[in-house]
Amino acid sequence: MDFELKTLDLAGAANEKCDVLLVLVTEGFKPAGADPLSRLVSAALAARDLEAKPGKTLQAYRSEGIAAPRVLMAGAGDGSGKRVQAAMAAAAGLLRSASARKLVIVLPPNAGPDAVRAAVCGTAESSYVYVTTKSKPEARELRKVVVGVADAGAHKAVFTRARAAAVGIEFARELGNLPPNIATPTRLGEEATRLGKDFGLKVEVMGPKEVLKIGMGSFASVAKGSVEPLRFIVMRYEGGARGDAPTVLVGKGITFDTGGISIKPSAEMDEMKYDMGGAASVLGTFRALVELKPRLNVVGLIPSCENMPDGSAYKPGDILTSLSGQTIEVLNTDAEGRLILCDALTYAERFKPRAVIDIATLTGACVVALGGVRSGMFASDDELAQQLQDAGDAALDPCWRLPLDDEYAEGLKTNFADVANVAGRAGGAVVAAKFLHRFTQNYPWAHLDIAGTAWKGGAAKGSTGRPVGLLLEYLLAQEGTAAAPKRASSAAATPVKAPAKAAAKAAGKGRGRVAA
Ligand code: BES
Ligand code: MN
Ligand code: ZN
Repeated sequence: MDFELKTLDLAGAANEKCDVLLVLVTEGFKPAGADPLSRLVSAALAARDLEAKPGKTLQAYRSEGIAAPRVLMAGAGDGSGKRVQAAMAAAAGLLRSASARKLVIVLPPNAGPDAVRAAVCGTAESSYVYVTTKSKPEARELRKVVVGVADAGAHKAVFTRARAAAVGIEFARELGNLPPNIATPTRLGEEATRLGKDFGLKVEVMGPKEVLKIGMGSFASVAKGSVEPLRFIVMRYEGGARGDAPTVLVGKGITFDTGGISIKPSAEMDEMKYDMGGAASVLGTFRALVELKPRLNVVGLIPSCENMPDGSAYKPGDILTSLSGQTIEVLNTDAEGRLILCDALTYAERFKPRAVIDIATLTGACVVALGGVRSGMFASDDELAQQLQDAGDAALDPCWRLPLDDEYAEGLKTNFADVANVAGRAGGAVVAAKFLHRFTQNYPWAHLDIAGTAWKGGAAKGSTGRPVGLLLEYLLAQEGTAAAPKRASSAAATPVKAPAKAAAKAAGKGRGRVAA
């Protein structure tokens, strides 16, 4: 799909040759002149067949003096990004049924950057169709989208960003939607390698042997029950100066979460294919970065495996030795995300990062707390928290900060290891974050729990591609700011160091397929 930004008013839009003309109508609409399109909108508003409220739409067919056969008018409220996003969502069904190849969108004359972004991302979102595993696919028909604004020059930068974001979001979305027998850890590794080849990223994909050798005993243990070999993906985007400290993104890549020996109920278990949404968002963010080539260094880390029940699976009661040296008692094998993330978070230290952000479909508790609107955000650094909050709001991919008080970690105490992997049900999203917090003492850290936002259930079931928009916006805001590594501001118990060998031994007791 090809996007173009163009200076266009209603008079000009009437002459645009396209299949559908989408006019966003804001409150206080004033016809600029007596052109056919302005007259049509004015008449519809006067007759109350159209309102400027987002959600309201009206279609016209073969109107006199208008080149496009279909005109779709949609209320866009005050024209803010949020309202334009809502208008795009309301128009989505009609746009799809119109099976347009070329679409022209006319934004209100006072449209700001948020509105431009919402128009681009909203069009990409609503025209996406998943076809990969259909035998008779009806692919996306939209080829060309012209975004008309009062002054194209003024919106060029945001338009370019939005277009890149849309590419990255769609990349993540497609990966998320792939079935778990296709989107395996191996496949995620291949996707990363391909991105590297196509766009000049440094990509390294490790398997079970290397991961054990490094000492990621916790991560390796989660993979033990699966015949699919684990993958640990390290990708580097190096757009900044050599010495610039990178931002490290860590994405949870559980390609299927059965719960393991602490098995989940059958109902809706298929949805656990989305448990690699964090990994997909890291890959999607890199896909967007290579489009924009900002002057920044970014590292992506993806621990990826399946969580399966099996004779060789890890089990409740097992004690794992993490890469940090901290020992972990497994009390529930369904709390596997934190067990793969903790080792990747320790691994992140070697990059001397300016900040580390992990992204994970981590807890059902976060879905209960925040639903599908805002991702859960935790941060050990107030500045980082603020930057993520602002980036999310700007990208219309919002998050909400949740606490990290030490009291939430009380329940993780155990008699048999340094820490347990679960506590009681109360405050589950925070408890999970507190578990990760133990492994992130040496850099500013944030955690995004995207269990509620990475995918949708119901009729619109599917991956959302979130939070690629947020991450990209955050990274771009860092361009040109000082990139020195910074130590975490909050103090806490320093993890005990243990030799990597011990960790490898602890995890490698299973069958050869892991230790091999
Ligand atoms: N992948 C799940 C979290 C999840 C739940 C994501 C619902 C998306 C939708 C995670 O691995 C998990 O199973 N978490 C458990 C943790 C519990 C055992 C402490 C949960 O949330 O129930
Ligand atoms: Mn789980
Ligand atoms: Zn999971």
